[in-house]
Amino acid sequence: MQQENPEILIRPACIDDLSIIFHLGERVFTRKELSNLYRTWDEFEVTSLFNLQPDNMLVAESGARVVGFAIGSVIRKVRAGRVFGHLAWLGVEPEFARCGVGSLLFDHFRELMAEAGVQTLVVDTQADNRPAIEFFCDKGFGSPVEHVYMTLPLA
Ligand SMILES: CC(C)(COP(=O)(O)OP(=O)(O)OC[C@H]1O[C@@H](n2cnc3c(N)ncnc32)[C@H](O)[C@@H]1OP(=O)(O)O)[C@@H](O)C(=O)NCCC(=O)NCCS
Repeated sequence: MQQENPEILIRPACIDDLSIIFHLGERVFTRKELSNLYRTWDEFEVTSLFNLQPDNMLVAESGARVVGFAIGSVIRKVRAGRVFGHLAWLGVEPEFARCGVGSLLFDHFRELMAEAGVQTLVVDTQADNRPAIEFFCDKGFGSPVEHVYMTLPLA
């Protein structure tokens, strides 16, 4: 069932949200659709990013229910004198798709990055993830650069 005009609250994630985020991510970042290791979701991704930069992990709530999350980090390249923000994971409960939840999460994340002095925001996704690419274009991202992953089976 698609939700219409849900009341959405964006807030920083807390420790109790981690398993909810992980299980929502399992539904959103499926191995079939996002098939390389780099983009394969696991619990260590959530816990280590929460350990490193908890302020840069946001959740979207509808009522008391977590229906989306944004997880990222600030990367300071001291030698280059540049500060990057990386939005690593953005996920929305499919039932709440196209209700503006992703947009609200992104807008809050972007504010956090600006407050941290970020000069350039970076996102990445697979080339065939049309919804994500449309979403990021809608948010003003441009200049896509192609990146090739290769595999060598050892077993
Ligand atoms: C990408 C994603 C986060 C978008 O979340 P969302 O809450 O559905 O997005 P919004 O409702 O805020 O959409 C904002 C705009 O993005 C674009 N957009 C979002 N989903 C789209 C889709 N499926 N097809 C085309 N455009 C889309 C539209 O321009 C939309 O504006 P509109 O609804 O007024 O046309 C969500 O589809 C998702 O969780 N995808 C799976 C995980 C993923 O790929 N994450 C991104 C890489 S980390």
